[in-house]
Amino acid sequence: MAEVTAALGLEPEQVERALTTASLAPSVHNTQPWRFLVRHDRIELHPDETRRLAATDPEDRELRLSCGAALFNLRIALQSMGVRPLVSVLPGHDAPGALAVVRRGGAVRIDAEHRALLDAVPRRRTNRRPFLDAAVDPRQRHALVRAAELERSWLHVVTTPEERARLKKFVQQAHEIQLGDAAVQAELAALTGHRPGAADGVPPASAGVRPETQDEWVFRDFQGPERLPGKDYESDPLVVVLCSYYDGPLGDVQAGQAMQRVLLTATTHGLSASFLSQPIEVRRVREHLRRALGGMLVPQTVLRLGFSTPVPATPRRPVADLLVGADERAPC
Ligand SMILES: Cc1cc2nc3c(=O)[nH]c(=O)nc-3n(C[C@H](O)[C@H](O)[C@H](O)COP(=O)(O)O)c2cc1C
Repeated sequence: MAEVTAALGLEPEQVERALTTASLAPSVHNTQPWRFLVRHDRIELHPDETRRLAATDPEDRELRLSCGAALFNLRIALQSMGVRPLVSVLPGHDAPGALAVVRRGGAVRIDAEHRALLDAVPRRRTNRRPFLDAAVDPRQRHALVRAAELERSWLHVVTTPEERARLKKFVQQAHEIQLGDAAVQAELAALTGHRPGAADGVPPASAGVRPETQDEWVFRDFQGPERLPGKDYESDPLVVVLCSYYDGPLGDVQAGQAMQRVLLTATTHGLSASFLSQPIEVRRVREHLRRALGGMLVPQTVLRLGFSTPVPATPRRPVADLLVGADERAPC
């Protein structure tokens, strides 16, 4: 089995800690589709092609979004160890097949904001439970919008009743299309429910309560427990659409970093978040959503934010399983 080696002037134990932090990123169905090639002068981030969801995510967009989130975690972990991360996204010939390469760009002392984001990494969890009927205040909204901007992305806050109604319709339409797609349902089923000892997927404890037909927003069914009477979803969560300025792999990796910065910022404000990805995953509906947003921005993920009760952590694969061996290059 491959072992973590020294890199970027850090000891192997520090590199391992940084990769552990990277691996705590969210990923579609908790597939953890990332691999790392560690060399003394760089850490390469590769997609793990064996963890693709060919039906749900045929263009690997969500795979790259997930990897972008891991990259953000890696960046702040390295900063906490005094390394200024010099990141090259889609490095091409420099690192064939890699989504990003991180080198040492000198020394740095992590600032308070990044330290708070790093501290939030293990506390951030996808929370599918009903939220409290308490509004997210303007200061918190502003912090989320700023977090996306700092990562060269755009956070569109859904505000007007018309816009909410239209987005709900998109979620519903896409959800129904996916319910009728056996391959999409099979991918979901393969990664949910009781899977003793599994280091990936969404366990029942993280599934949230069972969606019901009266729910305003249609959530994906992760086979959670039946709902107790009165445990309905909140009527008015904060819903945002995270967008990139580019369509394609660069925009995806950038949006993934922004998504993670938004989620960690939310965590620092005591906010919970979950995803409504159906209208993004179904290409036809995504095009409608894109046009509804004015046609220029590329919608990358839809998030629901609010206040809730804590949820358990989902499992992660050990770092040793995430390493690309020295004699092995990840497939392009
Ligand atoms: C790109 C992306 C799309 C996701 N889409 C959904 C979704 O539509 N519904 C959902 O409940 N969770 C969604 N998730 C959340 C993942 O299932 C979750 O990140 C994963 O199970 C790991 O759990 P954690 O976020 O609590 O660490 C998505 C995550 C990512 C990164």
